[in-house]
Amino acid sequence: MAILIDGKNLAKKIRQKSKLECDELKTEGINPKLAVIIIGDDPASKIYVKNKSKACNEIGICYEEYILEEKTTQEQLINLIKKLNNDRSVNGILLQSPIPNHLDINEAFKMITYMKDVDGFTPASVGKLCIGEDTFISCTPYGIMKMFDEYNIDLTGKEVVILGRSNIVGKPLIQCCLQRNATVTVCHSKTKNLAEHTKRADIIISAIGQSKFLKAEMVKKGVVVIDVGINRGKDGKLTGDVDFEHVKEKASYITPVPGGVGPMTIAMLMNNVIKATKEQNKEKSSL
Ligand code: GUN
Repeated sequence: MAILIDGKNLAKKIRQKSKLECDELKTEGINPKLAVIIIGDDPASKIYVKNKSKACNEIGICYEEYILEEKTTQEQLINLIKKLNNDRSVNGILLQSPIPNHLDINEAFKMITYMKDVDGFTPASVGKLCIGEDTFISCTPYGIMKMFDEYNIDLTGKEVVILGRSNIVGKPLIQCCLQRNATVTVCHSKTKNLAEHTKRADIIISAIGQSKFLKAEMVKKGVVVIDVGINRGKDGKLTGDVDFEHVKEKASYITPVPGGVGPMTIAMLMNNVIKATKEQNKEKSSL
């Protein structure tokens, strides 16, 4: 039976640290602020941003929401990003994905200034991550690395198999795991014989959004399983990408859904907002 990786509790500890840092900034007259842009009315996004706003309130980060209508043009979106880039009271900018199909999200991310890129999605942040420089790391992969640290899971020489190749999770995870000296394989919708990869994995990180996709017969005994999936079943219950009840019998460590990776993503966002605020003020004071 696997040890449960308690993301909820670890996230709480990280938020407490962010709160202390936020309190300290406030004593210096600095008030961290996160600006969040949402376009259209994707129901999942609404839940995500609600949780982000709750975490900001708890820590004392000022949370400002920009809700744009579905028919917003690329130009309007870019103009808002430019305005927020230039607004000195804003320390972090987050464009909640997905955005409507007629808009180009990559072009929009490119416009966010690196210093305020608390999601780690801009080309500058992604490039810095690739060459091993200090940067803003995308919150979900960053949260997963913190879980490995907390449970002393060393990646050196381990076979890590990532399921999913999204820009938000799968791709930055490759770099994070490589930095920790893992041997990394990425599986995706065109991968042949996927179970052959998962069966030899020491660590599996699944981010594909398919309920209970990873079955017990696809993993070896003692595997570490990290489940990024948040899928809502017909009964309204949340499930991950992993068939938790069966896989947990073979795994050495496993994350639950909910209470695993989800809260870590939000905690690392808070961490990144504080980091951005500190760096922006460091620059100001050295001018
Ligand atoms: N949509 C789903 N997850 C995320 C996230 O971490 N950041 C943003 N901006 N959009 C998301």
